[in-house]
Amino acid sequence: MKYKEIHFQTIDSTNLYVKQHHQDLDDFSIVSSDYQSKGKGRNDRSWLSQSGDNLLFSLLIKKLDIVKNGGYLSLVAAISVAKTLEKRGFDRVFIKWPNDVYLNDKKVAGILLEGQIPEYLVIGIGLNVNQEQFLGDYRIPPTSLFLEKKEKIDIESLKKELFESFIDNVKNVNFQKEEYKKYFNAHNYLDNKIISFQDNGETKVGKVMGIDDTFALLVQEKEDIIHISSGEITIK
Ligand code: BTN
Repeated sequence: MKYKEIHFQTIDSTNLYVKQHHQDLDDFSIVSSDYQSKGKGRNDRSWLSQSGDNLLFSLLIKKLDIVKNGGYLSLVAAISVAKTLEKRGFDRVFIKWPNDVYLNDKKVAGILLEGQIPEYLVIGIGLNVNQEQFLGDYRIPPTSLFLEKKEKIDIESLKKELFESFIDNVKNVNFQKEEYKKYFNAHNYLDNKIISFQDNGETKVGKVMGIDDTFALLVQEKEDIIHISSGEITIK
């Protein structure tokens, strides 16, 4: 699979770089970095990562029939990370909808989708690989592959595996939705869990039943099945 990678030792944020340069960068360019001084997480949080320990990169997509898939693509990114970890022998890998990857109940990877549909999309992935400790306050307990297996991983080879699987999965998004849905349902961290969520400004509580064909989360609230397509959810 052909892709072009631009690597920085230090950058403010790979997502920001791709957004600022999307017009000049080729479709399916990947921008990666050893360190981000302003790593960005979802909901305006920051993404902190020790220099050189982890995978930090962003993929640019300009092809219209892929960009159109907007919301699916962050899940496709999470699926690509989860599959790569399983291939490496990690088990208890789960995806917390919409796109966090969990290992042994802790967050090992986060995904941030940005851009301007239909012009372009940026999918940023942060995967904690060799970081030995996480200091500071985290909303969800973080982990790294090293902490779960007590083995350091060669970042370059993991990066190559993940890039190839990710680009392949993104290019196939229009043909493999059923397969992705099946994989997600088998790795759904929230399956059968009771969660709280916002529905038209109202906080509601319900039980997670899976996802629908648009990858919206299905939640049973009393007699109703509610389809949640975005927003923050909390496990009760
Ligand atoms: C989250 O779970 O909050 C999403 C985290 C996304 C982090 C990645 S690291 C590479 C890319 N560049 C950024 O500034 N953020 C994403």
